[in-house]
Amino acid sequence: MTNELQLIGPFSQVLTFAHTALRGTLKDDAMGVIINGGILIRGNEIAHVDDYEALALRFPEARVHSIDSNMVAMPGLVDAHTHICFAGSRSKDFAARNSGISYQEIAKAGGGIWSTVTHTRAASENELVELMYQRVNRLKDSGITTVEVKSGYGLSVNEELKLLKAINTLREKSEITIIPTCLAAHIIPKEYNQDASVYINDIIDNLVPQIKNMDLCSRFDIFIEENAFSVSDAEVYLSQLKDHGFDITVHGDQFTTGGSAVAVQFEAMSVDHLEVSTDHEIELISRSNTVAMALPGASLGLGCAFTPCRKILDAGGILAIASDWNPGSAPMGDLLVQASILATFEKLSTAEVLAGITFRAAHALGLQDRGRLITGLNADICAFPCGEYSEIVYQQGTMKPEMVWKSGKRIK
Ligand code: NIG
Ligand code: FE
Repeated sequence: MTNELQLIGPFSQVLTFAHTALRGTLKDDAMGVIINGGILIRGNEIAHVDDYEALALRFPEARVHSIDSNMVAMPGLVDAHTHICFAGSRSKDFAARNSGISYQEIAKAGGGIWSTVTHTRAASENELVELMYQRVNRLKDSGITTVEVKSGYGLSVNEELKLLKAINTLREKSEITIIPTCLAAHIIPKEYNQDASVYINDIIDNLVPQIKNMDLCSRFDIFIEENAFSVSDAEVYLSQLKDHGFDITVHGDQFTTGGSAVAVQFEAMSVDHLEVSTDHEIELISRSNTVAMALPGASLGLGCAFTPCRKILDAGGILAIASDWNPGSAPMGDLLVQASILATFEKLSTAEVLAGITFRAAHALGLQDRGRLITGLNADICAFPCGEYSEIVYQQGTMKPEMVWKSGKRIK
């Protein structure tokens, strides 16, 4: 990209998050708001964020993109946990759950995640790319400029490879950043007759070398839960993955506790779900450097409790929020709607919500180059059609950004 200068503004408000803390509680006055702000972009990076008039005087050579109505600019959103590499629907599971059969009972009977595996195995790599591309376009329109995408519906060496290749093809095609994660350890595939260790060895011996050769991802996830992987399975698996140099993230404490302690022990980047975490787990996570990732879409999809976000923040934890978009527990796939609803149940400030879907979520992915509007970071920006930031969460995510920039390029 060229070093061309662009000046965008004036915005009624620019939420910079310039000095906003990574951990713990936040008041709205911590968001580093600039009134009548302008954003100066050089190439794909933010050069300056300041008073619009001051920037216009100082940089007369900049190409001006003038904003003629009330608009609030903030960092592009980061959805740090999705399973959008899937085919098929689980509407029958949804109906079954609402008739009184639980998610775990459906799983035990051989449905649930396994039924999506069947559909996803039947889809070609190209079909998966196309399905994901449509989903990513929806994300882009809702202001998301970085999204994590997990495999996990292939569940054999070759099928997981197919999914990871599809995710990498999407990565080349997509206007927004795609971060691939290998979730081969989602559930034990039927072919392995409940023998987790044989499957784990197969993944380590036969999938990991190919992932490394083709550079398909740098992160691994595991679902630690009844009907999935036990704490001891996870310990064996994660220690080998760490030796291979992969970053770790964990699905933990969704229905039973145990996963979060393993995540902290292995210094995972994040531990996600935490709906049933008690004060003991909250304390452990909040003292660690592992990000606590709330997935309100799964609570809404299953009719379960929300992650205890208020307690995690009050205990000084790093809280991020993601959509968990998947066909089973979280089919909605709308991060801002979900985060706004979470705010009312968990009593979160607007700052805590917006930090959780910007720089705190980027941190969970190990990305320090985005999520705040400050000099030197990627010019990933979204702008909402309102004059006051409080409207964004108040309107419960139904107000979508009117404009979105990715690395300085307008994509909406
Ligand atoms: O994060 N909990 C495990 N995995 C997904 C759900 C996957 C599915 O039901 O298809 C989740 O909720
Ligand atoms: Fe998930």
